[in-house]
Parts: sequence; C-alpha cells; structure tokens
Amino acid sequence: PKTVKRICCIGAGYVGGPTCAVIAKQNPDIQVTVVDLSEARIAAWKSTALPIFEPDLYEIVEVARDGTDGRRPNLHFSTDIATAIDEADLIFIAVNTPTKTAGLGAGKASNLAYVESAARMIAEAATSDKIVVEKSTVPCGTADSLRTIFAALAPHLAFDILSNPEFLAEGTAINDLLNPDRILIGSLKDAKSKSAAEALAQVYNWVPRNRIVTVNIWSSELAKLAANCMLAQRISSINSLSAICEATGAEIEELAQVVGLDVRIGGRMLKASAGFGGSCFKKDVLSLVYIAESLHLEEVALHWKSVVDLNEYQKGRFARRITRALHNTLANKRIAILGWAYKKNTRDTRESAAITIAGQLIAEGAQLAIYDPLVSEKQIFDDLESACPNASSSVKVYPDASAACIDACAVVIMTEWDEFKTDYAGSPTFGGMANSSTDDHHLTSTSTSASSDSGIDMQDDPSEKSAVLPAPGIDDNPNYSTKRIDWRHIAAVVRRPRLVFDGRNVVDSDMLASLGFRVQSIGKADVF
Ligand code: NAD
Ligand code: UDX
Repeated sequence: PKTVKRICCIGAGYVGGPTCAVIAKQNPDIQVTVVDLSEARIAAWKSTALPIFEPDLYEIVEVARDGTDGRRPNLHFSTDIATAIDEADLIFIAVNTPTKTAGLGAGKASNLAYVESAARMIAEAATSDKIVVEKSTVPCGTADSLRTIFAALAPHLAFDILSNPEFLAEGTAINDLLNPDRILIGSLKDAKSKSAAEALAQVYNWVPRNRIVTVNIWSSELAKLAANCMLAQRISSINSLSAICEATGAEIEELAQVVGLDVRIGGRMLKASAGFGGSCFKKDVLSLVYIAESLHLEEVALHWKSVVDLNEYQKGRFARRITRALHNTLANKRIAILGWAYKKNTRDTRESAAITIAGQLIAEGAQLAIYDPLVSEKQIFDDLESACPNASSSVKVYPDASAACIDACAVVIMTEWDEFKTDYAGSPTFGGMANSSTDDHHLTSTSTSASSDSGIDMQDDPSEKSAVLPAPGIDDNPNYSTKRIDWRHIAAVVRRPRLVFDGRNVVDSDMLASLGFRVQSIGKADVF
C-alpha cells in the first residue's frame, strides 16, 4: 500500500482536533494539517487557549504542534483548505453532521450539507489522487454519494473512499484515542480499496493490529450509528428502571450492579441519570430512526425512537420531581444548578440535560443560580436563549458553587463533576478552604439569615453576600478535578429544608443527610 506522508483533516472540532493531534504525535514522519472554515477556531488551535477542553489534550498538541520533544513540528492548523487538500495523500472529513432542522426528514435525518461541501472542496482543490476518509458519523450509503460527487466533479482523478468512524467520548478523548477498543475501517472489496484501507491502518501504528477491524463500507457506516444507539438504549433502559425504583424502594445502583455483573450485559453505560446529553446520542438515534422509516421498517423505527422519547421523559420527570418537592410552585424561588456541561471533563454543552431541565424550571417561575467549573457564562446564556427565549432575566451565573447556593430553596446537580462529590469526609482541608474558625463564623451567621422554609421570595441580590464569603473551590489550580465543594458550607447558606436533587447520583446522600440536607437521587425512593 501507499505510505501516507501528508494528512489533511477537514473540520477542527471535537473529533478532528484531538484525533489529528494524537495521529500527529504518534507519527512524527507524517505532516498533519487540520483545516476549518472558522478562523476563530483555527486561531484558538494555534494558541495556548485551545477551542475545546479535554484532559491531556494540550500536552499532546504541544508535542506535535510545537515540537516540544525535539521533533520538527508536524501538526498544523490552517484556514487555507484548498492548499492542505491538494498537498495531502489522505483526507479526513470530520465535519459536523447535525440533525436536519428543515426539509425532508427535518428533526431526524442527518444534515449532510457540511459533508457534501467538504467533498466539493476536495474535488475542486485536488490535482492528484486521494484517499478520502469519512470520519464524521454519517448515514449508511454516504460513501456512495461521495463517490458520485467525485465522479461528477473530478472524473480525471481516482479517489478511494473509506469509512473510519470515530468512537471517542468527550472528557476521555485522549485516552480513548490512545487506547481504542477498536479502529473500524470500511472499504470496498476490490484490491485498490483494500490497499487504501491498509494505508490508513498503518497510520494507527500505536494500535494493536487485532484491534483494527476491516469491514465493508456500509457495515462500517451503520456500525457507528448502531454502537451509539446501543449505548443510548442502555441509558434509557436503566433510566426507565429508575422510575420503577423511585416508586418502589428498590435502588437503581444496586440494580445496575447486579444486572451488570452478568458478563453478557456488563456494567458500563448503566448509570442512571437525569437524562443523556451530548451532540451524538440523540442525533444518531434519530438518524437511525429516519433510516428505518425510509426503509418502511416502522417497528424498527419505533423501537429506536423510544430511546429518545424515554430520555425526554426522564428529563421532564426530574424537573417535575423538583417542582413537586417545592410544593408545586417555583414562582420566584431561587434554585441553584450545579453543572451545565452534558458530562464532566468537557465544556461542551450540546444537548445537555441541564438546558432542558433549566427551561422547565424557568417555565414554572424559578430563578436559577447556575455554576459550572468550565462552562462560560456566555455559553450558558446562549444555550438558554435558543432553548427558551427570554429566559435570561431568570438566570444568574456564578463563579463558584457556594455563591450559587446562597439562599437557594434547592440545589440541583446536573453534571457529575468531581468537584461536587462528597468524598472529602475526614479530610481537614479541601477545596482550598481550611477548617478554620472563619468558616464557623460564616456557617453560623449565614445560617441565621437563611433559615426559613423553602419557598421564600428572592428579594436581595445574593451576589452581595457572596462577596464576604470565602470562596471554596475558587483558585487558580488548573487541576480542577482535585477541588471539592464544601458541603458543610453549602448547608449553612441554603434555605431549609436544604433540598438537594442529585441528577447524576454523585453525592453520598447519607453523608449529606448528616449535614442536614434532604437528598433526592435518581432511582431511589423519595425520603420526604
Ligand atoms: P464540531 O462541530 O465540533 O466540528 C466540526 C467542524 O467542522 C466545525 O469547526 C466546522 O466549522 C467545520 N466545518 C464544517 N463544514 C466545513 C467545511 N466544509 N470545511 C471546513 N470546515 C468545516 O463537530 P464534532 O463534534 O467534531 O463532530 C464531527 C463529526 O464526528 C460528527 O459527524 C459527529 O457525529 C462525529 N463524532 C463526534 C463525537 C464527539 O464526541 N463530538 C464522537 C464521535 C463522532
Ligand atoms: C458518545 C459515545 O460514548 C462515543 O463512543 C461516541 O463516539 C460519541 O458519543 P459522548 O456523548 O461524548 O460519547 O459521551 P458519553 O460518555 O457516551 O455520555 C453521553 C451522555 O450519556 C452524557 O450526558 C452522560 O452523562 C450520559 N450517560 C453516560 C449516562 O447518563 N449514563 C451512563 O451510564 C453513561
């Protein structure tokens, strides 16, 4: 097979950026250029403030982009798409494939406009034969469409089209890329296509050969969708059982443990939650639903559609549970939302369950005080604006958890950030806050002022109070994962009866009960 010397990746997003950083790091002899239409994104990739957050990503980028290990830098970022395409032997298409919002299949089908525009750019810029690799998640049959585009626009050139879907999960992208369960490569059956697949396989030189799986190109496209659908289905299944647990006294974590001990089932992706989020699951399940509908497989479509329906139900159920515990009215009640990202260790908020649930609480009249360790205030307002316009007057964003919790009638945990965990018991200091008399002073003074029953109007601006409080968790420590919020302190500043709704089952509810909280967890019966 041809030896790949230059790679171009179209799309410098959550997939293109980390994937190419790892490929470049592991292949010092391959020049890798990641291109994007967005100048801002490319400028950020060239800077010290990368456009996305992933643990260990910067260290990898530094090695390949800046040559910190002494190599000639081999990871480049550019908006000169045409040049990068023409210079490359192999081109990844890693553009977004969101759900269509208009036209045929709106609300379900994948929008392939970005994939098609990337293909057109390739056809127009290429002056030599290329291996073109679908990295984006696409419906089964997309490779055929690409072949048609290339045949029409660049008939004089020979393009090998491969499918090589990405399986990384955000928050663990670098580890997933370095230690993948499998690398999937789909090709045609002829020798030329197989040789192109082999050239791509050699790029993954750090992956044990038995983890590189080659299949036909349609299987590859469909397998990626299928994998995400099966993962999402497990979460909806466990979430459906969480509703039964809440009504019966069974406990979802015990259930998941027992069920997962069956090796045929396995224990992962069985964590009940207030609903799954992220840019992939909903979009990919709906894409499969649309494919099934297009093939007139109504029962199949209904089966998969129920995965998304159950997820919407789970989010709504959680919001209703909060409302019910607050006497069915949230008018002017202050509710602290801890966590906005759709999962920990990312600042991505796409389809975050927090957005839907916040919208439902605001619709009931709540005033939200939001804190997330990584997500910016602007991002939170942008998310709310598109989900429920005019919501911004009901929301304030705080730079630390304890400020968000002051005078809150309820604390709602929406992301499983380590910072929210309760595993500090017994530790004399944590979260940058010592067990000092200053804390005790604040504990007493604030608890006096915040000791009424839940459901009291939010009159004064709590941010004034936050100015005089120590700020646990706020420091410049980039190793945010070691920070912990001080739940004793939170106990002192929230309103009674100190309600906590744990949408990710991250806190130890017995431990918080000992601090005077009443905790409602997913899949556990109400305690009041
Ligand atoms: P993203 O939105 O973060 O990045 C896509 C980038 O492509 C954007 O920066 C956009 O400007 C750029 N782009 C679009 N059209 C372009 C064009 N014609 N030329 C140049 N740049 C163009 O998306 P993402 O999260 O990286 O996802 C990319 C694909 O990978 C999707 O199909 C997704 O389903 C799939 N995927 C995503 C994940 C994930 O965790 N995010 C994991 C596996 C697979
Ligand atoms: C997912 C797939 O895991 C990954 O393989 C694919 O390439 C892209 O889509 P991602 O969406 O980044 O990755 O994260 P994932 O860890 O799958 O979590 C998705 C959502 O499900 C999150 O909101 C998470 O909190 C939730 N989740 C996950 C649960 O509610 N319970 C679980 O047990 C696992």
